Amino acid sequence: MIVLRELVKRYGADAETRAVEGISLRVAAGECVFLVGGSGCGKTTTLKMVNRLIEPTSGTVEIDGHDHRELPAHELRRRIGYGFQQVGLFPHLSVAENIGITPELLGWERGRITDRVDELLDRVELPAAEFRDRAPSELSGGQQQRVGLARALAAEPEILLLDEPFGALDPLTRDRLQDSFRTLRESLELTVMFVSHDMVEAILLADRIAVMDAGRILQIGTPAELLAAPAHPRVAELLESPRRQRDAMDRLLEGSP
Ligand SMILES: Nc1ncnc2c1ncn2[C@@H]1O[C@H](COP(=O)(O)OP(=O)(O)O)[C@@H](O)[C@H]1O
Ligand SMILES: [Mg+2]
Repeated sequence: MIVLRELVKRYGADAETRAVEGISLRVAAGECVFLVGGSGCGKTTTLKMVNRLIEPTSGTVEIDGHDHRELPAHELRRRIGYGFQQVGLFPHLSVAENIGITPELLGWERGRITDRVDELLDRVELPAAEFRDRAPSELSGGQQQRVGLARALAAEPEILLLDEPFGALDPLTRDRLQDSFRTLRESLELTVMFVSHDMVEAILLADRIAVMDAGRILQIGTPAELLAAPAHPRVAELLESPRRQRDAMDRLLEGSP
C-alpha cells in the first residue's frame, strides 16, 4: 500500500542538516508499522514526506502503486489521514468544525459530516453532546489529542499517519485509547504508519517496528523478532527499558501473596 524508496531529506542552504538519509520501506495493506527512535532521528520528516507535507530531496513514495506526485491533492487528502505531533487544532473553530474540516473541503453534505463527527467523538471517548461545540481552548491537552485523532479519521481514509498521537495523555487514558486504536484499525482495515519514541507503545501496537537513528533504519521486524535478536546496540538499548519494566513488575508480583 505504501512504498518508500531511498527517501532523503536535507535541510539548509548547503543541505547541511541530514534529516533523512535513505529510508526504504514497504507497508502492506492493513499493516501497522511503527517508526521508533530518539528525538531528531527523522521520524516526523519521514512521515510528512509520505503525504507531501514535505518534498523529499530525493527518493520516491508510492501509494497503492502510484507515485504520490501523480495523485491530485484532494485525492491524497481523502486517502491519507494525518494526526500531527503538535495537534494544531484551529482555535477559532469548534471541536466539531475541526473534525469535519477535511470532509467539508471534500464537499460532503452537512448531515453526513455531522453524523461522522458524532460517531468519531464517541470512538475517541469524548461524548458528542458535551464536546462537539467546545472551543479547543476548553479542552485538556489529552482531549485535544483525541480530537486530533478523530480529525485524522474524519474522511474515512485508507491510510493513517500518526505522529506521537498519544504523547500528552495520562497513562490510563493512553491505555484506553491504545485499546480503541487497536479496535479502530482492525474494524476500519486501516494501513498505518505510526511515529513514536516509546518502544513499549510500539511493542503493544505494531505489526512491525522500524528502529531509526540519524535518518536511517537500523532494523525492521516484528516486535518478537526485535526482542529475540536486536541487530544493533542502539536497538538493544531501546528495548532495555521495556525489559526492565517487565522484570521489575515480575519481581513485584513474585513477592506478592
Ligand atoms: N524545517 C526544518 N529545517 C531545518 N531542519 C529541520 C527542519 N525540520 C526538521 N529539521 C531537522 O531534521 C532532523 C530530523 O527532525 P524530525 O524529523 O523532526 O525528527 P523526529 O521527529 O525524529 O524528532 C532534526 O535534526 C531537525 O532539527
Ligand atoms: Mg517528531
